[in-house]
Amino acid sequence: MIRIDIIAGARPNFMKIAPIIAAIELEKQKGTAIDFRLIHTGQHYDQKMSGDFFEQLGIPAPHVNLEVGSGTQAEQTAKIMMGYEALLLDSPSNLCLVVGDVTSTMACAIAAKKLNIDVAHVEAGIRSGDRSMPEEINRMVTDSITDYFFTTSEVANTNLKNAGVADSSVFFVGNTMIDTLLKQMPNFKQPDFWEEAKLTAQNYFVLTLHRPSNVDADTQLQQLLSEIMQHTQGHKVVFPVHPRTAKMLAQLNMNFENLFLTEPMSYLAFNYLVKHTKAVITDSGGITEETTVMQIPCITLRSSTERPETCSIGTNELIGTDPVAIKPTLEKLFAGNWKKGGIPPLWDGHTAERIVAAIKSIYAI
Ligand code: UD1
Repeated sequence: MIRIDIIAGARPNFMKIAPIIAAIELEKQKGTAIDFRLIHTGQHYDQKMSGDFFEQLGIPAPHVNLEVGSGTQAEQTAKIMMGYEALLLDSPSNLCLVVGDVTSTMACAIAAKKLNIDVAHVEAGIRSGDRSMPEEINRMVTDSITDYFFTTSEVANTNLKNAGVADSSVFFVGNTMIDTLLKQMPNFKQPDFWEEAKLTAQNYFVLTLHRPSNVDADTQLQQLLSEIMQHTQGHKVVFPVHPRTAKMLAQLNMNFENLFLTEPMSYLAFNYLVKHTKAVITDSGGITEETTVMQIPCITLRSSTERPETCSIGTNELIGTDPVAIKPTLEKLFAGNWKKGGIPPLWDGHTAERIVAAIKSIYAI
């Protein structure tokens, strides 16, 4: 029996693990000698950042919750490593499977590898080149000790090759986040505030901001919001506010008539909003993949991306973090000149099945 530890810690992990768990469950039913233990590190702990996602995506309750909570990068990393190491010493698994690029991803990979446990990384090989982002450090460290690399793009494959990773360790499988998106699309749910905010299809924008470079300085956040609200031509801008951003917003002097603030939204309501919006303005990485698949215009307020295929193939455009870039970009959108975009290879809803098939062949089960 091969037991896989599946690690999830923060919001963008949950949609990536859901289809992998479903695919393992299916194999278990067929009698394959495979099992999993779901470990929630507790990096995100609010109902709205975590619990709602488990419920909507049908993820089973974690077997273990390390309950690390908030802290600095080093504090969170240390607490996760200590918690997971103790668990592994008590009860080791055969494989530690981590997803994405959050602190929990890196911390669990290190703890497992130091106990000689195999590490698989889903979404391996992507790089922004920007080492000021904690996620980039997490990606580099995780990939430096990973045994099996599951990749979402040709660019990731090339990055790994250039880093000296053997082809035989790289499995180009596609994108598990898109497995979840395609599966859940029929269940997308109109948000409760749809009527109250007087939203109609293509008549509003969706805004998300949580990167330290955009939200940790009050002047930057204030200027970004001012430019967005000045140039969205009277459309409503729906802004689900991440806890990190909420702390800074509370200190701003804001009076924007068409800005509609909400708490962090559930998966099904948020993606309903994205599917029907005129465009998304964001500094997220994962959302640029979802807008690419839904062919919704996406304006990214970052100067680099680890997901270049969302720009070269998809509907995403990077405009940097300087607020002056917002006006000409929105003018282009309103002129009807946004690219339509295509779908990157293997973003087809079957990635988790390919991951489980690869694991079966690696362990000959
Ligand atoms: C983390 C990830 C980032 C991901 C983002 C999505 C890392 C390095 N960063 O950033 O890649 O895109 O999650 O949400 O792992 N907080 C709450 N409730 C929660 C969780 C956090 O109030 O459930 C507060 C924390 O106290 C902290 C702030 O939100 O003040 C930021 O949380 P943190 O986990 O440190 O990083 P994120 O900015 O969320």
